[in-house]
Amino acid sequence: MANDASAVFDTLSPAVSKGSLADPFTPPADSALWRKNFLLGAATASYQIEGAVNEDGRLPSIWDTFSAIPGKVLAGDTGAVACDHYHRWEADIEMLASLGLEGYRLSIAWPRVMDAAGVPNRKGLDFYKRLLNRLKEKGITTFVTLYHWDLPQHLEDRGGWLNRDTAYRFADYADLMSRELAGTVDAWVTLNEPWCSAYLGYGNGHHAPGLANDRFATQAMHHLLLAHGLAVPVLRANDPASQKGIVANIGRGTPNSDSAADQRAAHLFEVQHNAWILDPLLKGSYPQDLFELWPGTEPLVLDGDMETISAPLDFLGINYYFRTNVASDGAHGFRDVPLEGVERTQMGWEVYPDGLRDLLTGFKKTYHNLPPIYITENGMASDDQVTDGHVDDTQRISFLKRHLAAVDQAIKAGVDIRGYFLWSLMDNFEWAFGYERRFGVVHVDYSTQKRTVKHSAELVAKFLKERKARA
Ligand code: FCB
Repeated sequence: MANDASAVFDTLSPAVSKGSLADPFTPPADSALWRKNFLLGAATASYQIEGAVNEDGRLPSIWDTFSAIPGKVLAGDTGAVACDHYHRWEADIEMLASLGLEGYRLSIAWPRVMDAAGVPNRKGLDFYKRLLNRLKEKGITTFVTLYHWDLPQHLEDRGGWLNRDTAYRFADYADLMSRELAGTVDAWVTLNEPWCSAYLGYGNGHHAPGLANDRFATQAMHHLLLAHGLAVPVLRANDPASQKGIVANIGRGTPNSDSAADQRAAHLFEVQHNAWILDPLLKGSYPQDLFELWPGTEPLVLDGDMETISAPLDFLGINYYFRTNVASDGAHGFRDVPLEGVERTQMGWEVYPDGLRDLLTGFKKTYHNLPPIYITENGMASDDQVTDGHVDDTQRISFLKRHLAAVDQAIKAGVDIRGYFLWSLMDNFEWAFGYERRFGVVHVDYSTQKRTVKHSAELVAKFLKERKARA
């Protein structure tokens, strides 16, 4: 039912479509969200939705390897089938369009589109061409992420992001993609969340490739940022009309007490989560406090690298999920002190919309050259069930409303925010947590691949329809 585009508005919960229920989502009349040019969309990522990992010449990625290792992913889940989007993309795009979403952020699987020698894989490229052409036909604004964590395994076998050469291979990949796809991409995102790739992948080992060493993390970060910096001019040359940016996840750290030590701990938390990425991009240097936290981990930086990394961006993508309450660990760093009695999601993450507003307004003060911002991910996981064909995801509706209000407050405080993408269009493979954690505004039944539009998506659709009607 929910796969049928025309049917979506007819399947709105009867009370909602008749307007007899107080609408728990629609923003207040003075919200910037009503501006027609504020882009509202949804996001996904290749490994989390595509499946078809052995089809049409796709090569293994580090996530195929990592998820196959017992104990690395909850319940032993892998992305082998995921949402089977590789085969169901047409219906999925219909669904996206039927919800009235105006933007779609997707990612390309690097191991699908070129081999170890750099030879293009036509079948893989054609998949993305078909997808992007269809989105263009539908008038949906496309944000295309080149790297959302599925590094080709053959590159990891040569050191992955610890090997400087991977940055140059990434620029070659960006070159191929922007030559092939120019004209169908509105905005290129070089990397998704380099913090996660560097720290979770090489610093604590919770993500692929599963290495755990702080020195590795800082070096991997440097090579990731270098990859970004090398790719930007390539994208500009091949596809001048599109926007170029990068996506950073940001974390709010608040001190557990007024003590100077706890205040310092909260500062160091934000240095590690935010300044580690934003300082090199926007100031051209790493924050020295990072090396107070991790003494002796300075990466090897060659002449010219910081200039390459800090070349101007057209936009900065921001992903925000939660805040962390921290105290001093008694040495150089911080430790988490989970707060009692606060609202949490299925991930255990605290719901804290003010963190998004405060970080954004803080960045505007810290970085005088802060580019225009898109919120490229925000959302939450809940244990959603389908009952009588409906999914009542009450907590998500409230979560989205409050976070959009935080975005509105940041806009009113002068931050240039141009759009917001829900994470995620549909439930999918949530990395180390597998399929148990449901982040979608559309429910996926993994045994049948049936999609069911959740109540949150119905309300977003209703709002977008109203906004369109007023324009
Ligand atoms: C972000 C990732 C995204 C998704 C959300 C919940 O860190 O970019 O793929 O897993 O978290």
